[in-house]
Amino acid sequence: MSTRATAPGKIILFGEHAVVYGQPALAVPITEVRATATVEPAKPGRGTIIYALDQGLEFSLKASQESALALAARLVLEILRTPEPDAHITVQSTIPFASGLGSGAAVSAALARSLAEYLNHPISDTELSALVYEVEKVHHGTPSGIDNTVICYNKPVYFIRDKTIEIFDAPIPFHLLIADTGVPSPTRLTVASVRAAWELNKPQYEAYFQKIGCIAKNARAAIEAGDIKSLGPLMNENHSLLSVIGVSSPELDTLVESARMGGAWGAKLSGGGGGGNMIAILEPQNAIDVSNALVKAGAVRVIHTVVG
Ligand code: PMV
Repeated sequence: MSTRATAPGKIILFGEHAVVYGQPALAVPITEVRATATVEPAKPGRGTIIYALDQGLEFSLKASQESALALAARLVLEILRTPEPDAHITVQSTIPFASGLGSGAAVSAALARSLAEYLNHPISDTELSALVYEVEKVHHGTPSGIDNTVICYNKPVYFIRDKTIEIFDAPIPFHLLIADTGVPSPTRLTVASVRAAWELNKPQYEAYFQKIGCIAKNARAAIEAGDIKSLGPLMNENHSLLSVIGVSSPELDTLVESARMGGAWGAKLSGGGGGGNMIAILEPQNAIDVSNALVKAGAVRVIHTVVG
């Protein structure tokens, strides 16, 4: 019997980078983009073949040492203590690569979930999240764990590294635009550059991280109180601190500025930075104007999403 599983993209609202150093961060799944994996029976003796359609890749599980997808599949087999099945695994994603929307974690999650179901051992969200975290560690250096958590639980999370995850509610829904600079920027590189700067000046960087953590805490309180307009200034403040720690870029700054000028309540880069996506919070009736302003300023794609 064939199986199919999907996993959403995600966006970090507040707290990226500082979250790696123990500060809280807020992230939400976004369903406008997602990864999908299907597992189908193959001829006996064929082993497991993985097709990564977006990358035009096909490889056998046995042969592949490097790939994140192969690692995710191997971990499933290890957890379930099952030999490699004769199966075709096909993975496809509409989540842009290396842009802060969690594409890596989502493809691993979709693959692992669908393979586990194929082997008649569905795994829990907690097991799936731990498995995807292992893959993220190999491929991203020192991840905080926020991507695998929000994607595998598929819920808005208030995340503190190594603490029990907390789900938060947004009683008043709010509208975001997510705009892509079109500049791919692997998270591992910006995480490493922040680490190098932190090594050189720990007190200063710890102080920045603490300020970012406070913003994330205040943002959660504002969301839960339904005070969504105050998220705008909090985003602006968070963006300034991310610029100070060196993870913004001219393209991100241009989009952030154009969203603010276009009438958004506030805007910031989201995720690893250095490129990738930014987010803006705004009144729904401004969405078209701000979206046009973003495209004029160079955004290659704008997604309108509602949180809550
Ligand atoms: O680039 P993204 O969306 O995968 O986000 C990375 C978030 C960081 O805080 C920069 C790194 C991490 O592991 O939390």
